[in-house]
Amino acid sequence: MQELIEKYKQEVLSFESIDEKEKELFRIKYMGKNGVLSTLFEDFKKIDSSQKKEIGLLINELKGLVLSKINTKNAKSNKNLKHDVFDYTLPPVQKKIGSLHPLSIVENKIINIFKLLGFSLETGPEIEDDWHNFSALNMPEDHPARDMQDTFFISKSPDLLLRTHTSSVQIRFMENTAPPIRIISPGRVFRNEDISARSHCLFHQIEGLAIDENIKFSDLKLIVQEFINQLFGENKKIRFRPSFFPFTEPSAEVDIYWGLKTETDKKITKGTGWLEIMGCGMVDPNVLKNVNIDSEKYSGYAFGMGIERIAMLLYQIDDIRLFYENDIRFLKQFKSSHIM
Ligand code: PHE
Repeated sequence: MQELIEKYKQEVLSFESIDEKEKELFRIKYMGKNGVLSTLFEDFKKIDSSQKKEIGLLINELKGLVLSKINTKNAKSNKNLKHDVFDYTLPPVQKKIGSLHPLSIVENKIINIFKLLGFSLETGPEIEDDWHNFSALNMPEDHPARDMQDTFFISKSPDLLLRTHTSSVQIRFMENTAPPIRIISPGRVFRNEDISARSHCLFHQIEGLAIDENIKFSDLKLIVQEFINQLFGENKKIRFRPSFFPFTEPSAEVDIYWGLKTETDKKITKGTGWLEIMGCGMVDPNVLKNVNIDSEKYSGYAFGMGIERIAMLLYQIDDIRLFYENDIRFLKQFKSSHIM
C-alpha cells in the first residue's frame, strides 16, 4: 500500500495545469466520492493495526498535497479574477455609432442648397393614383410617354400604382395651394426596370417646382447653375440639351462635364465624360389647367434628378446596387456627423 500511496504522491506533486477541465478531473480523481482518497481510506480500515499509524500518516500527507494543489489552483484563478475586476482608471470603451447612408448624406446636401435658394420641402405618398402620377401631368391614358416610366401597377379599381416620379407631389401641392409656389419634393420612386449596375427598380429623386408671375426659362437656368455650383464647385461645365417631357414645354436635360479622370468616371459617363443629371423645363400650361391655376397669369419651371446618380459621381461608386445591399463594409466608409 505504501508503494501505491507513493505513486499517487508523485503524480499529485507533478500535476500542473491551467486548464479548468483538467483541474476538475484532477479534483474528482482524488477527492471524488469514489476517488483515490476515499478508496485509500476504505482500504485503511482493513489493514493490520500495526501498520495503521504509518499508513495513516502517508494517506493524510497525500490528502494534504491534493488539497494544497486544489487550493493553489483556486488561489491562481483568484489571481486571474483580480485582473477581471473593473479598473476605474481605464479609458472608456468607445461606442460604435452609426453614420448616415450615403444617399441620405447627398439628399440632405441637395435639400440644404435648395432651402437656401428659397424652396420649401414637400412630401407625398409612394402609393399613388393614375391622376397624380400621370394624367394631371399631361399624360392621358394611352399617351406613349407613359412608356418612358415602366410602372408597377397595384390595382385597377381603386386605381393604384407605385409612383414613378415625385412630380406627383407637385400636383398634390398645386391642387391645394395658390401661387407663388417654390417647393422641392424628395422621395423614393419605383420603376419596373431590370436591376443592373446602372439602374434599379427603386431609386430616389428630388424634384423642384416654382410657379409665379413672369417666371422665365432664364430663371430656371439660373437656379440650376447655382445649384450645380454649390454642389460640385464653381468651375463645372454644364449644358442644357433639348429634350421632351409631357409636363414641360420647352424641356431640357442638363449634363455636367465630369471628365474622365478615373475608371469609374469612364463607366458612369459611358466614356464621354458627360453625365446627364437632371430633367427640367417650363411647366406645360395644360398641367396648370389640370390643377386650376390660371396659365395666362402664372408660369413656372420644374426640374427633377436622381439622387443615386449624383451620389455615384460624388463618391465614385460604379454600381448602383451597392446602395441597397446594406453591407456594413460599404456603409461605414461614409461619415457624416450632421443630421439635418
Ligand atoms: N419627372 C421626370 C422624371 O422622373 C423628371 C422631370 C421633372 C423632368 C421635372 C422635367 C421636369 O423623369
